[in-house]
Amino acid sequence: MIEKIQKLIEEVARFNQQEEKQIEEFRLKFLSKKGILNDLFADFKNVPSEEKKDVGQALNQLKQAAAEKIEALKNQSKENEVQRNVQDYTKPGLPSPVGARHPINIVKNRIIEIFKRIGFSLSDGPEIEDDWHNFTALNLPDYHPARDMQDTFFVQQNPDVLLRTHTSSVQIRYMENHQPPFRILSPGRVYRNEAISARSHCMFHQIEGLYIDKEVSFADLKQTLQYFTTELFGKSKIRLRPSYFPFTEPSAEVDVYWGLNSETDYRMTKGTGWLEIMGCGMVDPNVLKNVSINPEEYSGFAFGMGIERIALLLYQIDDIRLYFENDLRFLQQFQSER
Ligand code: PHE
Repeated sequence: MIEKIQKLIEEVARFNQQEEKQIEEFRLKFLSKKGILNDLFADFKNVPSEEKKDVGQALNQLKQAAAEKIEALKNQSKENEVQRNVQDYTKPGLPSPVGARHPINIVKNRIIEIFKRIGFSLSDGPEIEDDWHNFTALNLPDYHPARDMQDTFFVQQNPDVLLRTHTSSVQIRYMENHQPPFRILSPGRVYRNEAISARSHCMFHQIEGLYIDKEVSFADLKQTLQYFTTELFGKSKIRLRPSYFPFTEPSAEVDVYWGLNSETDYRMTKGTGWLEIMGCGMVDPNVLKNVSINPEEYSGFAFGMGIERIALLLYQIDDIRLYFENDLRFLQQFQSER
């Protein structure tokens, strides 16, 4: 028996085929259930005990040699395959997977693009803010009840260090350092101490707009908003509902007329045809004074919108959590968008 095994070891050593099919045949022959090794191990019972040690060693040697051979040949064949691919320049290249832009970024970029065309440039500010820029300078003094409109995250129990609750803080930062006229747009993350649900999140995105110049009027604001909704949604009918923000006077909420042409329209607009898209107003003279701009000389408007909400309207995404869960099945649907 030992000679038989020696012969097989030699056979294994000689074997040098590199085709996958032949390697597999070789494996079946030696290592499969019905292969040579199993038969030999079965015969091992009948080996006289004084020979058992040698035969056993030889058998293990054979088994190991066969396994190693297969491993080596497989690696070799893989390498050959790679080599062939490299050398054949006529073969089509391997497709490399391309990611998709996040819907928040798609919508943000579209909004920026629209306002760029009418002279708005970008400006940003920190997400960790102080009380002055997020509240006080925006005409929300300490005792002001409107502070309740936004539940604030404070950093380390210090009431002067907080996560900004809106991008309106960037208005202040910009106006403190620039002389009018200017037109700016400020996209960014904002934070509010709210429970996470389909409708609300503790972090979301806003875009702020600010225009200050001589003789800017409410009519300019309305015209700008109308231009914006036409460009973004293809809808020019808007209405301005009186509202309240401490930093604008007068203030309004902007609704766009979506129409009632489909069942979805009915559902989205709760049967009214109108959808709320942002808040806006004429910059309050107190705010201008806070940043040393003379309200007798200059006036302007500001607006702020939630990007998640705009994306919801454009793509009919009705659960805000989808934006932040990184589920590829969701994200890949935006592959064709710029
Ligand atoms: N900052 C307001 C908000 O977060 C939106 C807004 C911005 C309103 C600018 C008017 C002017 O709700």
